[in-house]
Amino acid sequence: MREDKAPTRLISAKPGIEDISLDTNLRPKRLIDFIGQDKVKGNLGIAITAARKRNEPLDHVLLYGPPGLGKTTLSCIIAVEMSVNIKISSGPAIERPGDLAAILTSLQEGDVFFIDEIHRLSRAVEEVLYPAMEDSAIDLVIGKGPGARSLRLNLPNFTLIGATTRYALMSSPLRDRFGSVYRLDFYDEAAIKDILRRSAAILKVKIDETSLTQIACRSRGTPRVANRLLRRVRDYAQVMADGIITETVAIEALSKLEIDSIGLDEVDHKVLRTIIEKFDCGPVGLETIAASISEEADTIMDVYEPFLLQLGFIERTPRGRTATKLACEHLGIMYKKSQSPQVGFW
Ligand SMILES: Nc1ncnc2c1ncn2[C@@H]1O[C@H](COP(=O)(O)OP(=O)(O)OP(=O)(O)O)[C@@H](O)[C@H]1O
Ligand SMILES: [Mg+2]
Repeated sequence: MREDKAPTRLISAKPGIEDISLDTNLRPKRLIDFIGQDKVKGNLGIAITAARKRNEPLDHVLLYGPPGLGKTTLSCIIAVEMSVNIKISSGPAIERPGDLAAILTSLQEGDVFFIDEIHRLSRAVEEVLYPAMEDSAIDLVIGKGPGARSLRLNLPNFTLIGATTRYALMSSPLRDRFGSVYRLDFYDEAAIKDILRRSAAILKVKIDETSLTQIACRSRGTPRVANRLLRRVRDYAQVMADGIITETVAIEALSKLEIDSIGLDEVDHKVLRTIIEKFDCGPVGLETIAASISEEADTIMDVYEPFLLQLGFIERTPRGRTATKLACEHLGIMYKKSQSPQVGFW
């Protein structure tokens, strides 16, 4: 399965094996330590305070956005701020309705139940989740055939937190059952610098302001990538420069990592060059791009495309992806206007 592969890309926003322990060490534990995403943090803070005042569990929360932006981190923070336990599972891990029933019946009053990759739950499992979310109950079917009967089992009140990188793949009955839905966006450079400063302090790495900027501008607005680059630069500094990260050390280390000045790697370049050079800036379908560069369409959509869209380097049109003038300028290629039909009056 695609998700089970460790990422080989340095700038992949998906967690690699090394990242798992790093993620845990560097993960902020309280809302106040969570940097950036001010709108989400503000709204969540109010909802948490209100729920605590009423002495009720928090309404179900759906978090969505590209990988590595802090969905799991926020879920753990919610549990800490509500002073409750968190149980963690994921869409593909909950295979049968019985698996879900087993988890739900083991929850205690007020607990947070976190389902990662919630868009991958099967229909049958989702159906068990609906009454659990709405009425804190599940309907068990006892027996088979004509003699089968349904038994309602009450559950403790709990908060479901769902996380997904693919909001569009979720069924609307499931989406509608969340009391609040928050979208996490890429972080700006200042926020990434703050995250790096905090991580450097935890890792006890000496680093100056300009080096923070050098790493931040290659981090694709993604905390996980920023932390990973920091660790690579720290390794380089340890071997080459007594462990202190100065601008020269940072630039040297980063230049060896084969990512460009804005964090794009070889695969991003391939995606862009394919659209620009092979397909005259597009439009070209995602599957065609994927086949041309031997990557999976899902990987392109989850990992590469969101950041290229954010940069304004590609656009999604009904007929496929187009590359923009900005992308051509970044790669130093002459821009040829996209062939997509223009909508207008003529
Ligand atoms: N706002 C933040 N402030 C500080 N560190 C952060 C923040 N958001 C994320 N991080 C860091 O980035 C790492 C990755 O975040 P997290 O695992 O929560 O991402 P995610 O959105 O759940 O990713 P995925 O979609 O792959 O599950 C965390 O371990 C943490 O160290
Ligand atoms: Mg996660």
